[in-house]
Amino acid sequence: MGFDLIIKNATLPDGTTGIDIACADGLIAAVERDIKAEAGEVINAEGQLVSPPFIDPHFHMDATLSLGTPRMNVSGTLLEGIELWGELKPVQSVEDIIERALRYCDLAVSMGIGAIRSHVDVCDDELKGVEALLEVRKQVSSYLDLQLVAFPQDGVFRDPTAKENLIRSLDMGVDIVGGIPHFERTMQDGAESVKFLCELAAERGLMVDMHCDESDDPLSRHIETLAYETKRLGLEGRVAGSHLTSMHSMDNYYVSKLIPLMAEAELHAIPNPLINIMLQGRHDTYPKRRGQTRVPELKAAGINIGFGSDCVMDPWYSLGKADMLDVAHMGLHVGQLSSRADMAWCFDAVTENSAEIMGLDGYGLQKGCKANMVLLQANDPIEAIRLRPNRLAVIRGGKTISQTSPQRSELFLKYRPNEINPADYAPRP
Ligand code: FE2
Repeated sequence: MGFDLIIKNATLPDGTTGIDIACADGLIAAVERDIKAEAGEVINAEGQLVSPPFIDPHFHMDATLSLGTPRMNVSGTLLEGIELWGELKPVQSVEDIIERALRYCDLAVSMGIGAIRSHVDVCDDELKGVEALLEVRKQVSSYLDLQLVAFPQDGVFRDPTAKENLIRSLDMGVDIVGGIPHFERTMQDGAESVKFLCELAAERGLMVDMHCDESDDPLSRHIETLAYETKRLGLEGRVAGSHLTSMHSMDNYYVSKLIPLMAEAELHAIPNPLINIMLQGRHDTYPKRRGQTRVPELKAAGINIGFGSDCVMDPWYSLGKADMLDVAHMGLHVGQLSSRADMAWCFDAVTENSAEIMGLDGYGLQKGCKANMVLLQANDPIEAIRLRPNRLAVIRGGKTISQTSPQRSELFLKYRPNEINPADYAPRP
């Protein structure tokens, strides 16, 4: 029998080496040693890591690549970013958003990202972002899974037409209910907004993904309300809390009560390490808080955690290159996740954990899964985070959709002419 594609001699994320992966009809048909069969395409992985695609569970595709339009964020704060975005919204067109989003999707695919959950701002009576990203979702569907969250950036209660626009956007086909309780005028309004949005999701059978407590306020309590409403409405497993940065500053006794409630509600947590290490602690002198949510403690409680990238070259964050390994690298450092097991887990946080958050079907490298994967110029997940290496091949539906040459430097030093491959410096256990 012939296959469409065979990848020879791969190392899998769990450390198994010498594996061949055969693909047929868009699915993984066999994962075995030494598959002897014909195939339309054969890739020799040469013992390097083959992973299921990277998954970005938190992004803002309506704002991406808009850096500098109409101006830069001078203070570097979340609030100035929101203000700046408010200046851009009325002057950008649907076509502008589509063009930027498609360019970003190309970059993301070349970096091995197979699915993105993007928030789309619904605080715009014309719903330009919604119209644009629904079109983008359609255009990229054969090579990238795009999920959209109706995100009331200016507050579902604070903005006079946000509630109505959010409901309109869900009617137009946006997938998930979003929110931003910490941006409402009072803690009580924030709590009311969480209740309202969870009830809306329950009525419509939708998932929820809320920007929650993205501040350094130790008394912010919206994640508690989100967990409580999730349990009350029977939404367990369908709700994610994004950012959760104030948990970093909360009282330890309070957190000891909060985390078990979050675990009972089967909440997913989505920290966004790059953006939050940049934005948090801006009102502090020294010591400055890091602001990343309590990743090791949430993880120990069995809460599913996926790292998101949030922003690339937009009003909030002026760097980024769609590299989920940059995200994992920063999350690892800020969370001090330095054991071998924790470092390997950081790779899961940008692959399988995030696929679980998004509820992706057929994700993984087992027989019968979708034939979507990435060949990296690295020997294992920890080395992938260390090097953030080239994506030698990106496979979608059993076909190569992107290729990058291996990174190699040639040295011309007199005492030792040499070729340097960064992966040659890895420990060999
Ligand atoms: Fe965000």
